[in-house]
Amino acid sequence: MAILVTGGAGYIGSHTCVELINAGKDIVVIDNYYNSKPEALSRVERITGKKVKFYECDIRDREGLDKVFSENDIEVVIHFAGLKAVGESCKIPLAYYDNNVAGTVTLCQAMADHGCKKLIFSSSATVYGGNNIAPYGEDMPTGAVTNPYGRTKYVIEEILKDLYASDNEWSIALLRYFNPIGAHESGLIGEDPNGIPNNLVPYVAQVAVGKLERVGVFGNDYDTPDGTGVRDYIHVVDLAIGHVKTVDYVMKGTGIEAINLGTGVGYSVLDVIHAYEKACGKALPYAILPRREGDIATCYANPEKAERLLGFKTQLGIERMCADSWRWQSNNPNGYGE
Ligand code: NAD
Ligand code: UFG
Repeated sequence: MAILVTGGAGYIGSHTCVELINAGKDIVVIDNYYNSKPEALSRVERITGKKVKFYECDIRDREGLDKVFSENDIEVVIHFAGLKAVGESCKIPLAYYDNNVAGTVTLCQAMADHGCKKLIFSSSATVYGGNNIAPYGEDMPTGAVTNPYGRTKYVIEEILKDLYASDNEWSIALLRYFNPIGAHESGLIGEDPNGIPNNLVPYVAQVAVGKLERVGVFGNDYDTPDGTGVRDYIHVVDLAIGHVKTVDYVMKGTGIEAINLGTGVGYSVLDVIHAYEKACGKALPYAILPRREGDIATCYANPEKAERLLGFKTQLGIERMCADSWRWQSNNPNGYGE
């Protein structure tokens, strides 16, 4: 009995592999290394002292998937593999629909043909769109998304609902992540974005380490306490532990459930910059810039359903998120690419 982790060499995937192994689970990882490096999995092996069974395989490659399912007794799939850059998705939407949507369809077909019907899907708070008011609850309407990346997450959720409606043997969790940040406390694995980071914390981290000059704050005229955008940042290790608990949950029965993984607490852009300053022990220069297109003022979770269904509650606060991010960034200023 093993858990297949797609995209397991990526940021959230690598941290989840560590927690799954620590929980005594058997894992098999596939990744096409589009946005990750083999070094990430070597570091997972270093942290856990266990060898990771790995296939270099694209989720759109049906023959490759058949080989993985034939050679292993896969009981549950945790499906991280996907493209995730919002700006890029506006420029090359078809690549996003192909990779994320078509890739998930191929994966589910392979699962069904091999009799594996337990799936944990990486969805996103982005499916709540701009029309709901935080805290976001799972029963709020979804789909008012503002970019092709977000639409792939919404469309995949709908496809998986149709799949369950057609065959009640499936057990599916749609995990809606809020904003994962931070790194493993060893400082060995973390987020390693290509080029200039799009997301706040990786950008702040590169300012702290001296690779970028100053943080651009995208707007200070939102209807929030200090005018800057408010988000629900969740430590990536908490998020990883949420997946371990979800494995136990999907194993128990059948059904399909959307579940938020967030803390329920919102921090502003300036809160994050100041928390990071404490973590790295220096002042971080920043400049107020115009709003970024597509951004909303406030996004945070109602985390009650995760507690009720999974027994999951986050443990690590913003100080720890920044301290762990800084340890990773300062130990690995060039990520895995050295
Ligand atoms: P990531 O890019 O670090 O990891 C994704 C991994 O999937 C990478 O290792 C990449 O090489 C691999 N991959 C991509 N396409 C593939 C394909 N066709 N076949 C095989 N492997 C493929 O991203 P992440 O931050 O770890 O995110 C993991 C998942 O969580 C993604 O689906 C993402 O959309 C979702 N998510 C992330 C965030 C976030 O802020 N990081 C928020 C919400 C949801
Ligand atoms: N921000 C800045 N400067 C930057 C980057 C971001 O001020 O250089 C601000 C944004 O305007 C926003 C906040 O910091 O107010 C967080 O922005 P991120 O880009 O880090 O994260 P988002 O909330 O925009 O989006 C992220 C992922 C999405 C995902 C969403 C919800 O990028 O893929 O969280 O999970 F869908």
